Amino acid sequence: MQSLKDKIVQEGKVLSKDVLKVDSFLNHQIDPQLMKEMGQEFARLFAEEGITKILTIESSGIAPSVMTALELNVPAVFARKRQSLTLTEDLLTAEVYSFTKQQSNRIAVARQFLSKKDRVLIMDDFLANGQAALGLLDIAEQAGVYVAGIGIVIEKAFQDGGRLLREKNVRVESLVRVQSLKNGQVIFAEEATV
Ligand code: G4P
Repeated sequence: MQSLKDKIVQEGKVLSKDVLKVDSFLNHQIDPQLMKEMGQEFARLFAEEGITKILTIESSGIAPSVMTALELNVPAVFARKRQSLTLTEDLLTAEVYSFTKQQSNRIAVARQFLSKKDRVLIMDDFLANGQAALGLLDIAEQAGVYVAGIGIVIEKAFQDGGRLLREKNVRVESLVRVQSLKNGQVIFAEEATV
């Protein structure tokens, strides 16, 4: 997605050979116009899949998911990472290990928001080691839904997540794939994703 690449080049900051900071439009401040375009692009990519629900994880997965949900006219549900006073229903949970933070988090979705009839699109902002997406896949499996695919805003192709997910024969579509962040420079991979 060219407008997203342009934005990354203009505003992204390479913090290390592994980490790209995009706080000005994705992870802290949000660019609604760009977010809307992302939603349209995900909706176009998965138009034939009969998606009935989007499943993401708080917090940065929510904005692109909501815009995609709006385009597809379906609800978006986000897995919670923290205990919530109101999250008292029957829960589906999964453990998500973050290599970056070296800690494991339990994520949870109320069972009532996923039905066996759902055709789910899993989404997230970054794909790094794939642990968040694997946790969401685990929850989708427990709910017995059909997973139509995984939509990612920025995939870091030099980390393992993309391979791990595609090995499971899940369709993964990333709007942008970053091949390398070496020498403070963002190098994009080919746009083809599958
Ligand atoms: P994984 O799920 O792919 O295994 O990711 P990992 O544990 O490595 O990442 C932990 C957190 O860091 C996730 O967000 C992930 O989106 C984010 N992240 C990973 N690589 C990058 C990067 O290069 N740039 C930025 N900006 N973020 C990255 P989180 O802690 O759950 O945060 P949030 O969703 O609440 O914002």
